[in-house]
Amino acid sequence: MSVPGWLQQRLAAAGGAVPFATYMDWVLHDPGHGAYGSGRLRIGRRGDFVTAPSLGADFAALLAPQLAEWLEQLATAPGPLATARGRLALVEAGPGEGSLAADLAAALAAGWPALAARCELVLVEPNPGMAARQRQRLAACPLPCRWSSFAELAAAPVRGVLLAHEVLDALPVERICWDGADWRRQRVVLQGGTDGGDGCETLLRLEPGEPLEAQLRAPLAGLGLDPPGPRRPPGWTTELHPGLAPWLEQAAAALGEGWLLVIDYALEASRYYAPARAQGTLMAYRDQQASGDPLLQPGSWDLTAHLCIDTLEQAAVASGWRSLGHCRQGQALLALGLAERLHGLQRLSGAQLAQALDRREALLRLVDPHALGDFRWLAFARGACGGSPRFLREPASGP
Ligand SMILES: C[S@@+](CC[C@H](N)C(=O)[O-])C[C@H]1O[C@@H](n2cnc3c(N)ncnc32)[C@H](O)[C@@H]1O
Repeated sequence: MSVPGWLQQRLAAAGGAVPFATYMDWVLHDPGHGAYGSGRLRIGRRGDFVTAPSLGADFAALLAPQLAEWLEQLATAPGPLATARGRLALVEAGPGEGSLAADLAAALAAGWPALAARCELVLVEPNPGMAARQRQRLAACPLPCRWSSFAELAAAPVRGVLLAHEVLDALPVERICWDGADWRRQRVVLQGGTDGGDGCETLLRLEPGEPLEAQLRAPLAGLGLDPPGPRRPPGWTTELHPGLAPWLEQAAAALGEGWLLVIDYALEASRYYAPARAQGTLMAYRDQQASGDPLLQPGSWDLTAHLCIDTLEQAAVASGWRSLGHCRQGQALLALGLAERLHGLQRLSGAQLAQALDRREALLRLVDPHALGDFRWLAFARGACGGSPRFLREPASGP
């Protein structure tokens, strides 16, 4: 598979090779050519991959009472950062197609109108191609909407809730390989002449680069990788998440007071870095297909790596967040009333049968332990707020 010209030139200018994280950043986020930067990737059943919000509005409807509970707490107990009008913010980082933001705004406006009247929607999306589609999707949003960045928000921090649904898995990861004697930072190398001018096809390959520098080496001991032990043979490869701590610090500076809810693929360090997981968690998605090869058609595939729960929690606490706990999505959605919602579908009339079947299938997918149900929900707080999140409490009894 040949390498697009823009990437050949970029790699040639960098001396023919770059660390994997640089490659991942380019192919996802380059504004002209990246899969998200250009807006090429489509999320949804007819797109490249599905996410929970893309399966329908039930996901947002189940999440809305949790967000309303948090926002009500802020509304009734003004903190030191309350604005003159007491406006509260529902911030979504990485809103994709804008479906979750749109459905949540609709659910809040319908179920908690007085609260919704005090809220604004703030979208944090660095990729212009995606932001353009979000603007279209949110054109009729019942809440005031604005697009911003953590840097801009830090100048006037908001109070509210920050949602990060399947966004931290798009932060570039470093891949590291054990060569039998040392850890090396994996790099992406251009093979053959640029533009095939010498008659050879230009290809990409992954190879172990320089020994790991001190900054990347630092977390290894805490992750059980220093020393790697005999069960990790030469070639054993995994990922580190150097982008996570800066993201959490910027998020903390943007949200003066409130909650952060991260929903994503995530594993405990003991499972993430288990000897049997010899190639990490990196996956590529396109056209509803999955591949373990991150070099396929660069700029056309989504690349994603799981989060490490321990790394995320440590980085969050170091950035000023308090951890409120975590659970699997299946448990969270059952606590928020998924069973009752499923039961309620029986009340739909015969004319709505197709819709009921569609929603039933989507609800079951959300809790399927072999798919979206295995996602993790992790809650954090800043400022005077706290308490146990509703989604970690016992489900309400009976339909
Ligand atoms: C996998 S999509 C998830 C979209 C949506 N949250 C959903 O679940 O349907 C990742 C989204 O995060 C955006 N993104 C990537 N890096 C980001 C960053 N550093 N900050 C905010 N958004 C980012 C992408 O452009 C895209 O909109």
